[in-house]
Amino acid sequence: RSKGMLKGKRIIVTAGATKEKIDPIRYFTNRSSGKMGFAIAGEAAKEGAEVLLVTNSSLPAPDGVTILPAETAEDMYHEVMKHAPEADIIIKSAAVADYKPKYIYGHKMKKQDGDLVIELERTKDILKDLGEKKEHQFLVGFAAETENIDQYAMKKLQQKNADIIVANNVTQEGAGFAGDTNIVTIYKRDGSKKELSLMSKRMVAKELLNEIVQSMKRDR
Ligand code: PMT
Repeated sequence: RSKGMLKGKRIIVTAGATKEKIDPIRYFTNRSSGKMGFAIAGEAAKEGAEVLLVTNSSLPAPDGVTILPAETAEDMYHEVMKHAPEADIIIKSAAVADYKPKYIYGHKMKKQDGDLVIELERTKDILKDLGEKKEHQFLVGFAAETENIDQYAMKKLQQKNADIIVANNVTQEGAGFAGDTNIVTIYKRDGSKKELSLMSKRMVAKELLNEIVQSMKRDR
């Protein structure tokens, strides 16, 4: 593996959970810590890439990585779209909310008798939009699944016009959210897949970046 294999490449990585406001003190979020995306960003910078990391996570910034804060799915959408035209590679490891509250209350919602219903509406699908507008960018999506991994991952690859989908079965011990390890399968457009065993998120990041570089060489 040559040092600096991503020299001259501009990469956008997204990491961690989004927070969708309900009122000034409450929000919906999920269990993503940002570790997977931060590992990718850090390893890409080590390989010489210029890396923008769009995230709401407060993990320490890896060396040589520029953090662009984005709290909500909407913030993340705008930040990614702003920089996408100049990017060579976009890696979407963030766990973006699929729904957000339809109304954000200006004041703390007060307790009331009986149940409460909060109406949700869909957020924009950043990966799908990137896939539709794709020109030269190499596009990598993640898939957090709990069943039918092969089928759902291949479906995401096609529907979102991605070049690679990295699927993790988040029900497996040592895989998915919050820990320092992951178990992933890398799915490619040519229909091939590469199953990786349990390893640190840093090693997953290295393997993924290698696969990206190989695929980009082949496509050229
Ligand atoms: O952050 P960690 O604690 O280290 O955990 C890592 C992880 C489990 C979060 C990560 O490995 C992972 O799987 N990330 C993707 C989680 C996810 O949201 O998957 P999804 O199947 O819901 O989404 C599919 C893809 O579409 C993802 O690339 C996602 O970023 C993207 N998406 C989803 C919704 C949306 N509105 N816009 C998007 O771009």
